[in-house]
Amino acid sequence: MKKIVIAVDGYSSCGKSTLAKEIAKELKYAYIDSGAMYRAVTYFCIKNQIIIDSNINFDKLQSELKNIKITFNYNPQSKKNETYLNGENIEEQIRNIEVANNVSLISTIKFVREHLVNLQQEMGAKKGIVMDGRDIGTVVFPNAEVKLFMTAEPSVRAKRRYEELIAKGQQVSLEEIIANVESRDYMDTHRDESPLRKADDAITINNSNLSKNEQYVLALKIINEKIQKLNESRN
Ligand code: DC
Repeated sequence: MKKIVIAVDGYSSCGKSTLAKEIAKELKYAYIDSGAMYRAVTYFCIKNQIIIDSNINFDKLQSELKNIKITFNYNPQSKKNETYLNGENIEEQIRNIEVANNVSLISTIKFVREHLVNLQQEMGAKKGIVMDGRDIGTVVFPNAEVKLFMTAEPSVRAKRRYEELIAKGQQVSLEEIIANVESRDYMDTHRDESPLRKADDAITINNSNLSKNEQYVLALKIINEKIQKLNESRN
């Protein structure tokens, strides 16, 4: 059976990576978290003082970009695909608040996006890949065989995120999280470079009222129907 490319785009805190990982596992495909790549570049910038107090040294970043090698390796202990920067495991560091606060800025830079899009396209050249992000179905793989666009009401996403953070022992208010979700939505959809938008041929999954399992079953049905159609047209 021919392998395909599956693009999963959508708003933040929509459960994109959970769904993309489950699909990849089921189909025995590779899973790539493109957001982790933007986070890795951001971590590199912070570590090398390329970004200080939201001021970016663009010349230094442009000349250093070729020295940023991002890879993913499966860790059987955590059962996760972890992110490496030049051979160093940075999975934990890229999830910290400093990276989260700076990544939106780094991901608006045109030459950073071009560089990462090239790498992402190389990763998907042999197909058999599920990639999640904001521009996968529109820019990275405009010819992806399946494009899913995930969304949920902002209040639902904020509540999920709030519960996750509270479970981790962080002290946050629901109002603060709602404001954060709304501001990230605004930045993602209004930036000049590759703003988040639904590809014309993407299928929307609004998971406001779906359980994780219902969403998974629905996505897999869409994918399997597409694979079946492709196989029939080849016969
Ligand atoms: O999915 P995430 O929250 O880990 O993404 C981190 C940031 O990177 C987020 O601000 C949006 C940005 N991003 C992007 O611009 N394009 C992508 N393909 C993936 C993420």
